[in-house]
Amino acid sequence: MTERALPRHVAIIMDGNGRWAKQHKLQVALGHRKGVEALRSIIRESSDLGIEALSLYAFSTENWKREKTEVEALMALLLEFFSSEIDELHENNVCIRILGDKAGLPPKQREAVERAEIRTQANTGLKLNIAINYGGRAELAMAAREMAEMALRGEISPDDIDEEMLSRHLYTRGLPDVDLLIRTSGEMRLSNFLLYQCAYAEFDFPSVLWPDFDLEAYHQALDAFRRRDRRFGGRNK
Ligand code: IPE
Ligand code: IPE
Ligand code: MG
Repeated sequence: MTERALPRHVAIIMDGNGRWAKQHKLQVALGHRKGVEALRSIIRESSDLGIEALSLYAFSTENWKREKTEVEALMALLLEFFSSEIDELHENNVCIRILGDKAGLPPKQREAVERAEIRTQANTGLKLNIAINYGGRAELAMAAREMAEMALRGEISPDDIDEEMLSRHLYTRGLPDVDLLIRTSGEMRLSNFLLYQCAYAEFDFPSVLWPDFDLEAYHQALDAFRRRDRRFGGRNK
């Protein structure tokens, strides 16, 4: 079978930290901490491989439902990640973008992510998108609201609204569609991640828990992707 190119845009639902902690008889926060370690190597590898965009689901709009202590632990890890990683990411020419509603984050976290975005905005390497307080439906509702407001102001007519304009109102504006969506831990659902952007994504659901997702597992997913026959509704010769 012909080997195709690497995906331009990889999205990952990093799932299984809680089960990993349970398996190791540790507190859930330690599962999340271990998850951050996995994340570091996947980011570095994506950058080394020359993948254009990597979108990571770190915290969903639904994750606020969890115990206060877990939410606090996740928010603390987020701050830690941004302060410990930002120098290296910047040196590696990584451009960081937050997907999600930053206004809904605690002030310190909001400030840290905004600082990271501003500092790395001119970088031309890996486009690293971190989804925090992100929900695909909320994103689509936001885009609809923005376009409705523009129409009310007379800046556009409803007829101008097409897929291309809608894309420009999403957090992912300017990025290619997701080519490969990986969700670890064996769960096979999107959980409100990049609903619009995954329209033609290839899906991969490795059973490994996120903290155990290593470079070998990542390469397996990338290799499997390269063997997929993508047709986009047409026919391949
Ligand atoms: C994913 O791991 C990380 C976040 C949602 C932040 P989980 O915490 O969902 O892990 P499981 O699904 O309970 O194992
Ligand atoms: C999705 O995982 C969100 C993240 C990985 C950040 P969840 O563990 O929250 O999703 P459900 O609840 O199993 O659908
Ligand atoms: Mg989960």
